[in-house]
Formats: sequence, C-alpha cells, structure tokens
Amino acid sequence: MNPYILAIESSCDDTSVAVLHGNKVLSNIVYTQKIHEEFGGVVPELASRNHEQKIVLTVQKALQEAQINKKEIQAIAFTKGPGLIGSLLVGVCFAKSLALALNIPLIEVNHMQAHVLSPYIEQENVEFPALSLIVSGGHTQLVYIKDYLDMEIIGQTIDDAAGEAFDKAAKMLKLEYPGGPLIDKHAKNGNPKAFEFSKSKIADYNFSFSGVKTSILYFLQKQTQLNPNFIQENLEDLCASIQYTIVSNLIQKAEKAAKNLNVKHISLAGGVSANSSLRTEFVKLGEKLNIPSYIPSFQYCTDNAAMIGFVGHFLYDKQIFSHQEAEPLVKNYAL
Ligand code: KG4
Ligand code: ZN
Repeated sequence: MNPYILAIESSCDDTSVAVLHGNKVLSNIVYTQKIHEEFGGVVPELASRNHEQKIVLTVQKALQEAQINKKEIQAIAFTKGPGLIGSLLVGVCFAKSLALALNIPLIEVNHMQAHVLSPYIEQENVEFPALSLIVSGGHTQLVYIKDYLDMEIIGQTIDDAAGEAFDKAAKMLKLEYPGGPLIDKHAKNGNPKAFEFSKSKIADYNFSFSGVKTSILYFLQKQTQLNPNFIQENLEDLCASIQYTIVSNLIQKAEKAAKNLNVKHISLAGGVSANSSLRTEFVKLGEKLNIPSYIPSFQYCTDNAAMIGFVGHFLYDKQIFSHQEAEPLVKNYAL
C-alpha cells in the first residue's frame, strides 16, 4: 500500500508537517521557533502559542511543496508524545479536526519510535536485529530493534540526556542556547585531549551525564578564579574536550551493546546525531564491528514530521489507527 499521509509533529519547539507517499517523503516543512533563544531554554507556554500560530501555514506549505491537494490525503499521522503537553495538544487537535473534516483515519505515533526509525527513511533492504542509539535534548537511549515496529529500550540515561549535557556545558562556556551545535563548531579546531573530565562509571547499558556536568563546572570555577579569561582563551580546546568526553561515553556503550547482542547493523538518531564527531565515531564503530551503520541526513536528525509520517506508513499498512478520543502523552511510553 502506498497511501498519501500527512504527518504533524509539534512535541517541543518545532512545528513540522510532512507529506509522504508510502515511504517516500514528498515534503517536510520545519518551522523552528526562535522565541526561546533569549530565555536559554524552551518556554512551554510560548511554544504552544507559537505552534498554534504556525500550524495552518505549515500544513499549507507542506501540501504545496508536495504538489498535492488535501482531498488526496488518505490518513493523518500525529505525534502522540512524549513531549510538552501544550505543544502536543496543538498538533493532536489539528490532526483530529483535519481527519474529521476529510473523513480519513488518524494514526498516532510515538515520537521516540519515529526518531529510532528516522535513519531508515532513505535506506532500502535494511536487515534486523539492530542496535539504535537515540540521542536528543530530552533522551538518551539504546534500543534493540527486532523489526520496524518491534523494538525495546535496553538502556537509558538515569539523569541528564546527552543533548542536555551539551547544552548545559555550553551555558557554562557562555555560549548561546541551544549550545550543542556551537560546541560542535568550536571543537573543530580544538584538542580533544587538552582537558580531562570525569567519565561516567555507570554499569550495564545505562548512561549518566550529571557527573560530567559537575566535573566541568568545578573545573571552570577553579580555572576562572586563577584567570578570568580562561574560557575565552581556551574555548576551542574546552569544546573539543567536552565533546570528546560525551561522545566517547556514547560510543563505548553502543559498542558493548552491539557486540553482546550480535546485531546486523547499528543506527544513530535524534538531534545530537547532527554532531560531527559523533557521526564520524559512529561510522568508525560500524567499520570496527564490520556491520553497516545508518545515520539520518541532517534534516531528519532534529525534530521533523517526515519521521512521524514514516512510522505512520508502517502503521497504515497494518491498519493500526487511532481515534478522536486519543490523548497526548507527556511521558515516555513503551516503544
Ligand atoms: O531531537 P532534538 O531536535 O530535540 C529533542 O530534544 O527532542 O534534539 C535537540 C538537541 C539539543 O540539545 C541540541 O543542542 C542538540 O540536540 N544538538 C547538538 C548538535 N545539534 C543539535 N548537540 C551537539 N552537536 C550538534 N551538532
Ligand atoms: Zn525529538
């Protein structure tokens, strides 16, 4: 089956709408809210108001770019959660109204499952089982994938997410929010071994980044007391060393899990998968294990509706539909 699906993503601070024909993405419009920058983090109230303002325009743009009339759409996929309740509600309400008006089915999609499958949007003939490393601003998970819709979380962070660790470290370095991409940028000319920060010693497949954060904080406090210009003078080395600490921790855990579970490939997803060092190290890990490594192209790394529609088309094939009383979910739920 190759249905035309319109997908809506509004879980955090990106209003995104995509149109898919089967698994083929015809359009993927992402409107990233800028209003949060001055607050150093996403302000939920502002996020929902902004989604409300942009959703209709984003839908129109997605239909226009896909060169399709709304009457041709056969199902509406939407993000059920996890996410910010006010933000989710905008997408959920809009999806329900449009499905009702067009008299077509609704498909609810787990945002994390969409991230897990995002590396496969542009791939054919993928072999399972696989190990997926999901790294975003709110999540850090290792997921064992048995098949497209059959997966389980085998490890996750017990405190901060990897993206959060990047953003908090960037804040300490007085970089703007979200600081992850800026750390990546400044790290390019820095020495990753210039400074050593304590690494997480947590066992099994779980992660912890709060210790790294504290270690960076104490180190910077001490050094700036001795030299108030320490950060400015060492910005590139600091960024490279922080990035190295976070990335090596992620890669070590992924390697351990991939070896133990004997998977056929590894895949990377979530906003932090845009990090250049993580991308390079992940490809190297695949080479070392002698299995393919799949990483989404940049447009599918951060929040986007194409990945929601991609999961939607698998659910459509199985005729797994939602209903007008579906509720958004703030917290993580089973994949
Ligand atoms: O998946 P995402 O778009 O949003 C959710 O959290 O769901 O991820 C956003 C996170 C932010 O923490 C941001 O700083 C981080 O991804 N990020 C990066 C890079 N690009 C985005 N972190 C490090 N290096 C990057 N290049
Ligand atoms: Zn996300």
